[in-house]
Amino acid sequence: MSLLDDHVVTGTGLVDEDTGRGRFRVHRCAMTAPEVLNRELAEIFNRCWLYVGHTSEVTEPGDYVRRSVGGRPVFMVRARKSGQVKVFHNTCPHRGAVVCRADTGNTKIFQCFYHAWTFDTEGRLTGMPGRDAYEGGADFAELSLREVARVEEYRGFVFACYDPEAVDLVTYLGQAREYLDLVVDAMGEPEIVAGSNQYSINANWKLLVENSIDGYHGPSTHDTYIKYIVSQGTDIRSGAGGGNAGYDLGNGHGVIEYGAPWGRPIAKWDPLFGENARPGMEQTAQDLARRFGESRGHAMTHTNRNLLIFPNLVINDIMAVTVRTLMPTAAGHVEVNAWQLAPRDEAEDVRAQRLDSFLTFLGPGGFATPDDLEALESCQQGFASGGVEWSDISRGMGRDRAKHDDEEQIRAFWRQWQAVVEGSAR
Ligand code: FES
Ligand SMILES: [Fe+2]
Repeated sequence: MSLLDDHVVTGTGLVDEDTGRGRFRVHRCAMTAPEVLNRELAEIFNRCWLYVGHTSEVTEPGDYVRRSVGGRPVFMVRARKSGQVKVFHNTCPHRGAVVCRADTGNTKIFQCFYHAWTFDTEGRLTGMPGRDAYEGGADFAELSLREVARVEEYRGFVFACYDPEAVDLVTYLGQAREYLDLVVDAMGEPEIVAGSNQYSINANWKLLVENSIDGYHGPSTHDTYIKYIVSQGTDIRSGAGGGNAGYDLGNGHGVIEYGAPWGRPIAKWDPLFGENARPGMEQTAQDLARRFGESRGHAMTHTNRNLLIFPNLVINDIMAVTVRTLMPTAAGHVEVNAWQLAPRDEAEDVRAQRLDSFLTFLGPGGFATPDDLEALESCQQGFASGGVEWSDISRGMGRDRAKHDDEEQIRAFWRQWQAVVEGSAR
C-alpha cells in the first residue's frame, strides 16, 4: 500500500487515467483497504440511490418485504390507507429492536416483539402496553416509525436514498432509463418471481461490478456453459452481427449490448424452449416489432444487455432477466441478492424454460455464477501477492465506439466511483 497511504484514507488518487497514453488503471488498495470501504460507506452507500425492490412484490395493501439496503435493515410496505409504497428504517423508535422480522408477508400492523409497541402500515404508532406510565402521555407522533429520507420509483423499480439532499431519481438514472425502459416495455407488465438467490463472495464488491458488465471474459470463463448449450442444440452463431457495444451512460451507469448467442424468453426461440413454444414466441416478436418498430423490437427480442446502475444494481437481460444487488460487508467480502423479473402473463412453458435458464446459467449452483465467483476470488487472492500495485482497465481506450468486450463501461463506473468517494461529484 506504500506510497498511497494518504490516498487510501481520503479516497483520492486511486484511479489513474492517461488518455495520451491510452492507459487507465485502478490502484489495488481500492479493493483491499478497509479505509477505502469506510469512505465508500459514507460517500456512496449513504448518498446514492439504492435499489430496494419492485412494486410487483407489494401489490396488495399490507404487503411487505424486508430488505438490507446499503447495509441497513429496512422494509418496504404497501400502506393500507394511502396505498403508497413506503420504506421504513427497520428499527423500533422505543429502544431499537428490528420491527419487521419476516422476509415477506401481508399484515395490518407491525408489532415490535420486544415490548409490543404497535405500528400501522403507514408507520404510525397506534398502541403500547401501559401508556399511562408516561408522564403527560406518550407522544405517538414523535415515536412513530421513520421513513427513509428519500423513496422514489421508476417503472416499478423502487429506490431509496439516505441523503435528503440527493437529486431526484429520474435525474440520477439519466440515460440508464432508456435501458430500463427496454426491459420493461418488452415484458408489458413485469413481476418479480417469488424467491431469490443469496450468496456471498470472498472478493471486493467492485470486482463483481466490473464482472457484471464485462463482455471480455465470457468465452474464456464460461466455456463450459457455451459447450453445454451447443450440445443441447443451440446455434451460437445466431448472435453474430448483433451490434456489440459498450456504453458509458453517465453518472457511473454503464451497459454492454450484444447479439444473443442463446435463446431469450422474450421471443428469441431456441431448441431449449421446445417446438410447442415456437409459434407463440414468434408471434410475440412480431407484436413487439409492430408496437415499437423493427429496430427497437429487435433490440428487445434478440439483444442481450448487462446494465449497471451505479453503484450496486445490476440487471442482466440475457437468457433470463436477473435483478441483482451487491453489498460489501468487508473490503474482501460481498453479499449478493438476486431476483428474477418476468412478464406477468408469460406462457407456462416459456416461464418454465426461463426459470431453468436462470438457474442453469445465473444461479449460485449454475454454470456462470460459480465460474465468476472463482475468478473474482482469484483476483482478490492475487492482490495479496503484492508486487503489482495497479490493475489495468485500458481495453478499447481511444476507440470511437467501444465494443461490448472493451472496458469503457467499466471505466465509466470507476470515474464516477473516484469522483464520489473523493467528494467531487457533489
Ligand atoms: S424496542 Fe420495540 S417496543 Fe421496545
Ligand atoms: Fe460471467
